[in-house]
Amino acid sequence: MVKMKNDKDMISPPEKTPTIRVVPLPADTNAYGDIFGGWLLSQMDLAGASVATEITRRRVVTVGVEGMNFHKPVFVGDEVSFYTDIKRKGRTSIAVHIEAWARARTEDQSRMVTEGVFTFVSIDENRKPLELPKT
Ligand SMILES: CC(C)(COP(=O)(O)OP(=O)(O)OC[C@H]1O[C@@H](n2cnc3c(N)ncnc32)[C@H](O)[C@@H]1OP(=O)(O)O)[C@@H](O)C(=O)NCCC(=O)NCCS
Repeated sequence: MVKMKNDKDMISPPEKTPTIRVVPLPADTNAYGDIFGGWLLSQMDLAGASVATEITRRRVVTVGVEGMNFHKPVFVGDEVSFYTDIKRKGRTSIAVHIEAWARARTEDQSRMVTEGVFTFVSIDENRKPLELPKT
């Protein structure tokens, strides 16, 4: 069971550099004009894969997503920062907790919009799981 953040933890973003920072555009909206959940998921997947690949230095694939929470909406033009934190390294897999924080470009305050734990598996050229490098 993944322990998610409570309201107290959602006041300010992590004090570190985000893995990626992206601005969603009108093409990323759903039928109601808010940013599509699938856009957020794909950005989280990209951020998580990036940090997992720093460890494996080999191709990774996403094998599972846990505890995905959409806390607040995201709007066109927000600056969205994706912060990653390695939660667990297994034999062939790496679990990454990912938080997305959005900020309206004219404001100072950020809000936590989504979080989830994405698990990536290192694979070889035959798409078979590959042991993580020893550190
Ligand atoms: C990822 C894949 C290669 C794993 O193959 P597999 O034969 O199931 O491998 P295993 O059962 O040995 O599992 C490999 C690791 O994944 C972990 N795992 C498997 N399913 C998981 C899940 N749903 N959530 C979290 N971890 C999972 C296992 O615990 C194991 O971790 P460990 O080696 O660190 O202990 C295979 O499932 C696959 O190709 N899936 C499709 C991936 C994909 O296309 N993703 C979308 C695009 S990137």
